[in-house]
Amino acid sequence: MRLRRCQTVLIEPREHKEIDLELLLGATPRLASTLRWFALAPHLEQEQPLDGAEVALLGAVSPSDWSDAAELARTHAPATIENLLAKGLLVADDAGAHAAADRAARTRHWRPLAAVAHRHLRWRGVDTEIENARLGEISGGAVLDHLGPPPPPALDCAAPERRLGLPRGNASALDALLDRRVTCRNFDTARALSLAEVGAVLYRAFGARTATEVTGVAVLKKGVPSAGGLHPTEAYLLVQRVDGLAPGLYHYQPVAHALDPLREMSAEEAAEHARRFVAGQPWFARAPLQLIMASRFERNFWKYRNHAKAYRATILDAGHLSQTVYLAATELELAAFITAAVNEGDIEDALGLDPMEQGVLAVSGFGHRGALREEVEFDPLNAVWPA
Ligand SMILES: Cc1cc2nc3c(=O)[nH]c(=O)nc-3n(C[C@H](O)[C@H](O)[C@H](O)COP(=O)(O)O)c2cc1C
Repeated sequence: MRLRRCQTVLIEPREHKEIDLELLLGATPRLASTLRWFALAPHLEQEQPLDGAEVALLGAVSPSDWSDAAELARTHAPATIENLLAKGLLVADDAGAHAAADRAARTRHWRPLAAVAHRHLRWRGVDTEIENARLGEISGGAVLDHLGPPPPPALDCAAPERRLGLPRGNASALDALLDRRVTCRNFDTARALSLAEVGAVLYRAFGARTATEVTGVAVLKKGVPSAGGLHPTEAYLLVQRVDGLAPGLYHYQPVAHALDPLREMSAEEAAEHARRFVAGQPWFARAPLQLIMASRFERNFWKYRNHAKAYRATILDAGHLSQTVYLAATELELAAFITAAVNEGDIEDALGLDPMEQGVLAVSGFGHRGALREEVEFDPLNAVWPA
């Protein structure tokens, strides 16, 4: 059998502190500390604990050239080799799921650090309400007591008398729209969106205004900018209440300006998915429509191969789309949201996505705002809610 190391692995020494009564009651009370190694690899869903011998072996095996397993067993304990094979950090040339995942990873042009961060910062099954309670996360008036004063909201780089004042421009329709753009946490759960509303917002944010070719490459012109003009961000819809659409999952096709149905659901099932997708945030789970933004990395990485900025660019693209969703919705007297606190893993499971191929970056959405402000919204201008 021949072996090689997986293409990418980041090894992190991590300290774990826990209560040990003996140490706590000793002359200098302290917590017990354990230091352990963890391997984070982009082709593996779970991080893997390592011992020192495993770390040494990972540093001794080439990720590109195959080594003979019997040869390796002369200098390293067979159990260490077996452990790393079972963990998927060494891969064999015969078969196996780990080897296939590693082979796929080698073809995708990910920058290694970005790949590790993307794979291992995802959530699955997180409920932010439970998690915040567990972590003792504080909100409201107690925040300042706990955290002390924050850095100032704006940065001063010159004394006021040295400043060069700027004109604001005449108040315009865009100003009015920006003032009314308030993240919505109070959706009207009795009111569905119309297809006309959904179509208008999707077209303005995600739709292709034309499809053309640049130097032989098929490209789309959209209302939002995109790194390299590649527009890798896909919009998937989780529909709860849209007139004329069954609850369930859809994909938006930007050239045809049409929805591809993926999976129909009962209303209860759609509501359950909505809650899980936004990690239990009830104010967003109640929106009639969630827009899942998933980057089709291969589209960006086709050009920006193993590039230090490519992953960041895909995330920035999602931000531009989100703001356009906000403005397009606000213009139609609707209200929008975005959240990064999402269970990417659960969303991928529901949509059948491989996170290293199409990665969920955020969930946005929109709907009609309810009449009552039960959840907090940030509207100091009273542009949406009367004083
Ligand atoms: C990247 C990003 C992530 C966000 N995540 C959350 C979130 O998880 N939960 C939430 O309630 N709001 C979330 N928000 C909304 C912000 O809380 C909101 O934009 C901020 O409070 C300012 O309010 P405004 O959008 O009404 O001006 C997010 C906004 C952005 C841009």
